[in-house]
Amino acid sequence: MKLWGGRFAKDTNESVDDFHSSIRFDERLYRQDINGSLAHVTMLGKQGIIPAKDAQIIHEALKEILLDIDSGNVEFEISSEDIHMNIEKLLIEKIGNVGKKLHTGRSRNDQVALDMRMYIKEEIQSIDGLLKNLQVVIITLAKDNLDTIMPGYTHLQKAQPITFAHHVMAYFEMFKRDRDRLADCYKRTNVSPLGSGALATTTYPLDREYTKELLDFDSICLNSLDGVSDRDYIIELLGILSTVMMHLSRFSEEIVLWCTNEFQFIELDDAYSTGSSIMPQKKNPDIAELVRGKTGRVYGALMGFLTVMKSLPLTYNKDMQEDKEMTFDAIDTVKMSLPIFSDMLATITVNKDKMYKGASGGFTNATDAADYLVKKGMAFRDAHEILGRLVLYCVTNEQTLEGLTLDEYHAISPIFEADIYEAISLETCVNKRAIIGGPARSMMEEVIRINSAYLEEL
Ligand code: ARG
Repeated sequence: MKLWGGRFAKDTNESVDDFHSSIRFDERLYRQDINGSLAHVTMLGKQGIIPAKDAQIIHEALKEILLDIDSGNVEFEISSEDIHMNIEKLLIEKIGNVGKKLHTGRSRNDQVALDMRMYIKEEIQSIDGLLKNLQVVIITLAKDNLDTIMPGYTHLQKAQPITFAHHVMAYFEMFKRDRDRLADCYKRTNVSPLGSGALATTTYPLDREYTKELLDFDSICLNSLDGVSDRDYIIELLGILSTVMMHLSRFSEEIVLWCTNEFQFIELDDAYSTGSSIMPQKKNPDIAELVRGKTGRVYGALMGFLTVMKSLPLTYNKDMQEDKEMTFDAIDTVKMSLPIFSDMLATITVNKDKMYKGASGGFTNATDAADYLVKKGMAFRDAHEILGRLVLYCVTNEQTLEGLTLDEYHAISPIFEADIYEAISLETCVNKRAIIGGPARSMMEEVIRINSAYLEEL
């Protein structure tokens, strides 16, 4: 018989059990569920709501059940619907009637709300750790490539020379913001709904502050209707995870590009690439592609769960059970993607000469040539015009700016002097961009110092 079977004249149809049962996926919440129950029953005993010795018996039995589940000795049952009722049933089987007192003053509605918050608090911390590991890989790569000149792009057209350190540290900043967003979401997750009951609290003198302390929450929710029906923190988390994946997929796209035969900027380690079943020459960037692809399922979880929550009346509705599979899948996907991406990135070979060559083509120093004229007193708009003509001349004659003779420069403007070559060398272009945020070695060293201090602290 079901734990709620009293009101029913017959059992649910088997197909209904299959359809509404969540045990197949919420079993992963067993630890949180038991820890929540341990706090609840301790409080029931302390408040004299149930006899202290009963609380003690329940407490011990729950701990044994936890060990049993940990060691894989427990088979959950679909007919017991979800993790909450499976565990309660195990408890009653174990200690008989005393076990029936655990659910005093509690509902599965505040129980599931509590379990999910406990679970997500842990997951936020673990994802934060994975993001930090990725940041360590990035900053290490940057330190090794402070002088590795490469082309910077806009519109995927060569724009201005930068360094590989400058490029990868852009991602460091993105992941810094992601970690900051996680920390912020953690604050709103860290609120205990326990004591909200089914929706309107309870007539028993529960001590909500006490269970909050026992379970290491920051505060308690101040409205029980909100307590059982708020899932905002899950939506926030899915939004953050979507942003993490968006960042990873941008980085992945660049990895895919950089190891094409056309670019050859990097080479992936053999251990982090794959071959083709037919083409013997292939070395494919599957990890980067899959991370890029898996971004879709995390976005899907966000849109899916936003849609589940849309228009739900207060308070609990069974629709909300749909939060789990999507959230678990999004969390699992991110937790799988981050470490493998980090390992792949840590083992790339940077082809410094190819990057340098890439920066030498495509007139990446044209802005600097125009700035050269400005420094000699010309207005920027006029300098831009002259450089446009010089570039056109180079394109027509298959030349580069640094390859032109001084006579060719003079044919277009007499202002150019022999120091033009020094002014438009790639090294000058990079190292004269010496304001904070820029690619110059001096500035990158400063930014790496700031970010190393950040990693020490967070
Ligand atoms: N399995 C349910 C869920 O995940 C637990 C809460 C059930 N509450 C209820 N009143 N049916 O949402």
